[in-house]
Amino acid sequence: MSSVIRQFTVLSLFILAVRPDGELLDLKCQPTVGIVAQTTDIRCQYKTNGDTIINGVFLKKSTEENFIFQMYGNKIYGDKRFSLENPTNDPSLKISDTMFSDEGNYDYRVVTDRGEQTVQLSITVTAKYSAPVTGTLPVTLKNGRLADLYCNATDGFPGGFIHWFDKHKTNWTINSDLTKVPKDTNGRKSVALSSKLTFKSIDVDLAPFRCVVLNSKYEEDGESRILFDKSARSDEPKVLEPNTTKIIAGVMVIGSLIVGLLFALLFFRRKRSFHILNTDRRRSSAQPFLRDYDSAKTAEDDSEKP
Ligand SMILES: *[C@@H]1O[C@H](CO)[C@@H](O)[C@H](O)[C@H]1NC(C)=O
Ligand SMILES: *[C@@H]1O[C@H](CO)[C@@H](O)[C@H](O)[C@H]1NC(C)=O
Repeated sequence: MSSVIRQFTVLSLFILAVRPDGELLDLKCQPTVGIVAQTTDIRCQYKTNGDTIINGVFLKKSTEENFIFQMYGNKIYGDKRFSLENPTNDPSLKISDTMFSDEGNYDYRVVTDRGEQTVQLSITVTAKYSAPVTGTLPVTLKNGRLADLYCNATDGFPGGFIHWFDKHKTNWTINSDLTKVPKDTNGRKSVALSSKLTFKSIDVDLAPFRCVVLNSKYEEDGESRILFDKSARSDEPKVLEPNTTKIIAGVMVIGSLIVGLLFALLFFRRKRSFHILNTDRRRSSAQPFLRDYDSAKTAEDDSEKP
């Protein structure tokens, strides 16, 4: 019984090994999204019986005649950025330093010792956004005042999005205004994003604000926080405005002058009554006022002593 099964298995394996049938290879490649300037892996696989050996691969754009990359008999031709993940038994491809021009549909032919197959594969090339740059207008924010928060991200492709949140994770995106500016520098495509979140009256207690940069598929590319200066709080309108302070200072100066004047008046009245008592002696002395004052003061001090 068991020998019959074994014989059948051996026979089946033999048939598999000799049939040059692509369908037995069952080659499949996943649609690929590469990131510009990075290495792109194009995942491909075939049904393997463990020791299938690749004899050659041929890759060309579906719209073009010439092969971009070929490998057979240990020889490699074409674009040096292309390579096989594992030249002996893995048909997966690799593109180093991915470029926007790599985007498109390809015909990929894989020849193995078990047969050959040609499949179509597609490559999309995107570019990651750089870390967002933030800023505010005015530069120094004040609580309860008008404020514009900015969040800019560049170099990404295709165009993405910028979302806004405060420290309580409240979504402020609806109040923001997103501008997209497409750019193309020597075939390096990008869409610059600039988002402005405007507050008529900002509440500094909502800081830090967070702006999140998303790519075209709403995947997060980066984020940045906007913290407010401590002065945003201390500069908020107080009960005592600077003007009020000035007025109060003025009132205090004038007040102390008046009080001083009153004291001076009082003092001179006392001095005069003292003077009248000593009229005769003082007159004869004919001393300058200051001396007069000093002696009067001394006399007064003496008179106050018990
Ligand atoms: C962001 O971009 C806008 C529009 O280009 C610009 O007015 C603003 O100054 C930029 N802000 C920062 C922080 O780079
Ligand atoms: C925030 O609001 C935007 C615009 O209204 C929306 O597209 C986005 O899905 C929201 N994000 C979250 C995390 O709620």
